[in-house]
Amino acid sequence: MGCVHLIDHPLIQHKLSIIRDATTGPKEFRELVEEIATLMAYEVTRDFPLEEVEIQTPIATAKAKVIAGKKIAVVPILRAGLVMADGIMKLIPAAKMGHIGLYRDPNTLQPVEYYCKLPADLQERDMIVVDPMLATGGSATAAIDFLKKRGTKGIKLVCLIAAPEGIARVQQAHPDVEIFVAAIDERLDDHGYIIPGLGDAGDRLFGTK
Ligand code: PRP
Ligand code: URA
Repeated sequence: MGCVHLIDHPLIQHKLSIIRDATTGPKEFRELVEEIATLMAYEVTRDFPLEEVEIQTPIATAKAKVIAGKKIAVVPILRAGLVMADGIMKLIPAAKMGHIGLYRDPNTLQPVEYYCKLPADLQERDMIVVDPMLATGGSATAAIDFLKKRGTKGIKLVCLIAAPEGIARVQQAHPDVEIFVAAIDERLDDHGYIIPGLGDAGDRLFGTK
């Protein structure tokens, strides 16, 4: 089974409580989603390999560690993943970005693809797929299927809030994918919304309905 990392640092829990609150408006919601993603990126990148280089400090020559040129692409699932991707890119600005456009059909809850643009060298890159909500898991599973069909191997999935159903679905379909979440909620309602969740992430980020 794919490993699930629950990143429940107090700062993340605090910020998550504010975005769950129905009275939080889009501006604050966007800022906090970005901040939480940046904080999560700290853990998501924990296994990045280091290499030793020689540098010259103002005092002496020293051996110092730097990230060993790992090639990364951050891939938001449109549209709600966009703001999270910005938060992650703050810590790894040299990463490339790909975009996968999927929306969930409100009746069937099945993901519908409408856009895809990925880095040309995606087979050489590790992918960090980002989407704030992992509900039924249909969108994340479809996005990962899509990347694997194009030859990507190392994939991590980063979400703010997950339902147990969504985690189980991704683990079943993609046991090699590590999942990072800030919270695991109770369950889904009859419309596939996470309970208690935060509502529709895309609508709250962009002020749509
Ligand atoms: C939301 C969310 C995920 C998906 C999760 O997107 O951002 O992509 O639903 O649900 P699932 O796990 O059941 O697939 P939505 O389809 O509302 O599109 P949007 O980002 O354009 O608002
Ligand atoms: N998509 C959302 O934006 N929120 C949910 O709770 C489920 C799917």
